[in-house]
Amino acid sequence: MDVYQALNERHATRWFTDQQIPKATLEKIISAAEEAPSWVNSQPYQAHVVTGETLQSIRQEHQHLGDVGENGHADLPVMARSDWSAQAQNNMQAWSDGIAQSVGPDWQKIMGDAAGKLYNAQAIVYLTLPEGYSEWSLYDLGAFGMALMLAAKDAGIDSMPAYQFVSFPEEVRHNIQLENDEKLIMGIGLGYHDTKAAVNRITSTRLPIDQMTTFHD
Ligand SMILES: Cc1cc2nc3c(=O)[nH]c(=O)nc-3n(C[C@H](O)[C@H](O)[C@H](O)COP(=O)(O)O)c2cc1C
Repeated sequence: MDVYQALNERHATRWFTDQQIPKATLEKIISAAEEAPSWVNSQPYQAHVVTGETLQSIRQEHQHLGDVGENGHADLPVMARSDWSAQAQNNMQAWSDGIAQSVGPDWQKIMGDAAGKLYNAQAIVYLTLPEGYSEWSLYDLGAFGMALMLAAKDAGIDSMPAYQFVSFPEEVRHNIQLENDEKLIMGIGLGYHDTKAAVNRITSTRLPIDQMTTFHD
């Protein structure tokens, strides 16, 4: 697949079908993502690919914590929307406004239900960094994640990068025996996009290039 096609066709999938992903495909995607650049080639991250019964156990605990009203508490702090830049706040508002239109009046329940079930992802790639990591490693981990999602697209696999996957780190920690000095930074869900799911009607736009780029000649 052409890289432009992969960039244009990768979008967040918020409900996956029950079709499982072959292990060889998961290995191929991770291996491709390893081509991502990193500070002095430090490759500071670890990837934990979770499927099968372990994933079911995490999914059940996640749903339970959501049902009992537990607040998310990811290893990375979450900043209040009002503290973001004006540009970022405008973009977030525009995206949020569009959801009611594309999903319908029940959008909050539909999105909440999908999130509670971890989007029915058939594999989740948890990305971690060692305690005391350099802030540059966050850049590297993001690059790894994007490479992974593009490689997935090329392999016919859709993806979902989501805070939701790491909102209750303890459910992940004890299910995969994560060491205490490994920080859970991000989770990427993988699977096959369910074309019938209302939650998958959510779309997003991007700023025109002249509103976020300045050329200095
Ligand atoms: C770090 C990060 C965390 C995200 N967390 C969530 C989430 O918890 N729930 C959600 O519905 N979408 C989440 N998203 C998906 C974004 O909403 C989505 O990427 C954005 O709206 C752009 O849409 P697109 O990915 O479909 O192009 C997250 C994306 C990123 C990069």
